[in-house]
Amino acid sequence: MLRWLKYTSLVLILSTTFSFHSFRLCENSQLISHLEDNIEFRVDSLLSLMTLQEKIGQMSQVRHFDDIKEGDIKTKLIGSIIHTEGPTPGKSAEQWQQKFIQLQKEALSTRLGIPLLIGVDAVHGQNTFNGATIFPHNIGLGATGNANLVKKIAEITALEAQACGFNWVFSPCAAVPYNERWGRFYEAYSENSELTTQLTQASILGLQGRLDQENTVMACAKHFFGDGATDYGDEGGITSVSRKEAYQRLITPYKAAVNAKCGSIMASFNSYHSISMHAHKDYILDTLKLAMQYDGMVVSDWRGYSRFGGDSIIQAGIDMVMAVNGGLDSFQNTLRKSVESGVVSMERIDDAVRRILRQKFRLGLFENPFPNKDLIAQIGRKEHRDLARRAVRESLVLLKNDGVLPLDKELSKIVIVGEHANNTGLQSGGWTIHWQGTDTSYFGSTTILQGIDSLFKGELVYDSLATMRVSDADLAILIVGEKPYAEFLGDIDGVNEHTLTLSSEHRAYLRAYKDLEIPMVVVLLSGRPLVVTEELEQSNGFVAAWLPGSEGLGVAEVLFGDYNFTGKLAHSWAKSVTDFDGLYGPNYWDSNITPLFPIGYGLSYTNFER
Ligand code: GLC
Repeated sequence: MLRWLKYTSLVLILSTTFSFHSFRLCENSQLISHLEDNIEFRVDSLLSLMTLQEKIGQMSQVRHFDDIKEGDIKTKLIGSIIHTEGPTPGKSAEQWQQKFIQLQKEALSTRLGIPLLIGVDAVHGQNTFNGATIFPHNIGLGATGNANLVKKIAEITALEAQACGFNWVFSPCAAVPYNERWGRFYEAYSENSELTTQLTQASILGLQGRLDQENTVMACAKHFFGDGATDYGDEGGITSVSRKEAYQRLITPYKAAVNAKCGSIMASFNSYHSISMHAHKDYILDTLKLAMQYDGMVVSDWRGYSRFGGDSIIQAGIDMVMAVNGGLDSFQNTLRKSVESGVVSMERIDDAVRRILRQKFRLGLFENPFPNKDLIAQIGRKEHRDLARRAVRESLVLLKNDGVLPLDKELSKIVIVGEHANNTGLQSGGWTIHWQGTDTSYFGSTTILQGIDSLFKGELVYDSLATMRVSDADLAILIVGEKPYAEFLGDIDGVNEHTLTLSSEHRAYLRAYKDLEIPMVVVLLSGRPLVVTEELEQSNGFVAAWLPGSEGLGVAEVLFGDYNFTGKLAHSWAKSVTDFDGLYGPNYWDSNITPLFPIGYGLSYTNFER
């Protein structure tokens, strides 16, 4: 206790002196730089008091539910806690806040009382919480091309994440995807690096705002770099593009992240020129930290230390290790021995800890380590869902329309076909409630069928599996697409169930209604452009709706002409599966593959009046 009092009084004297000093100088606009200087001063003061074990503790990140037991945060001096797929703290956000407050108090009870970073994969809203507003995945936001909208979405995501007790989100994904076979294609914005850069920057600014506010969080641009540009779209595979192309296309979004003062960057699973990105000193330490002057923290991905070379990832520039799934003790013990033996320098450890402490000070965690319970009431509020619905509308891309759209609300009978029509789990994709998504509707969400039902005045028939063959309908709307997936389980690799085309079941739905010779509108729910050339020929209208999230009404509003289509493809759209015979799919820079639709394509209603 005495040491703690000594530390507190030391820091109080130092920071009081500094704040008095900075107060006198705050007459001019140098206040910000002095606040930063103050942070640097406080970082160095705190670092000077830390033991090696305390430093390595700060570099450790674990899950709250099974990587630690009661007391471990205090004894192992953990620096960060995360929630991922696994037991949740409870059904209510109050329970989530209480859990993380309890863990935070444990951290604050240590000798130096350094608060925790508490992180979560909130990649399209606070998607781990049942009841949060779920936005379109980034592939749909890429189709909006609307940076201001993306920034507003990020602001709401940050608020709903804070309401659940988090101060860090592992978002945005800054990948530039080359191949639709990649299981994370939908997590990225576009094949166009400039658009990806704009939207990445917008997301970071929205998430972080003024970092020390209670409704903002630290962002994490990921995965540095080349995750979406692997050969054949293999998640965690080999990225073989030239260094020039890597700089021009893949690293560009990270320049924007650095300029936006993104608090953290996550290393990528893939390798680049035969070196794991986690252990790539040329790019993490030398390029990102030195050449690009990045002063934030670099975090490993899942079990990065044990998977990608142990100490070599620390030497390459990784500052915090996701030492989950039982990796904590081996990480802490091995690194400690490596430092004691001189294999890893104390200078590198101090740089890592300095970067971690810097973000904790910038977040204001030393002054305000706990979430504001008043934010809880804002989770899933109408204004948030209204914005999500607007994002759905703006994300839709009209690929074909022979005049069948917009739909007439006064038609006598419409039949809706497909299990995707009435299931918000299927319309939201991976990273929704669960890591791999869910196949049931979740709290607070609206299905596309419910949306259509709220607008349409005539008779609505739901033929989920196309078995009813409703031949007297004026029109059929077929809502088809992919089942949810995430990461490597979404790769189209001949092993997973996913294919570049629609499933045979869904192709049968279209044939069944084509045979009835009634007009057909197809709405495709997918995490990537699929090869649907045949289905386009069969249909009268065709809409790419991507993975719209919780607000299915947004799809219905545009189908009925309450709003016009404004979405434009953020990717080239393949015409045939043979477009994928090479390393990549069709991309605007590759003249060897002529796509069915080019990037930027999208129809709209002519003579539209709203
Ligand atoms: C995963 C993903 C990464 C995510 C992390 C924590 O493996 O690669 O995007 O943030 O683990 O869930």
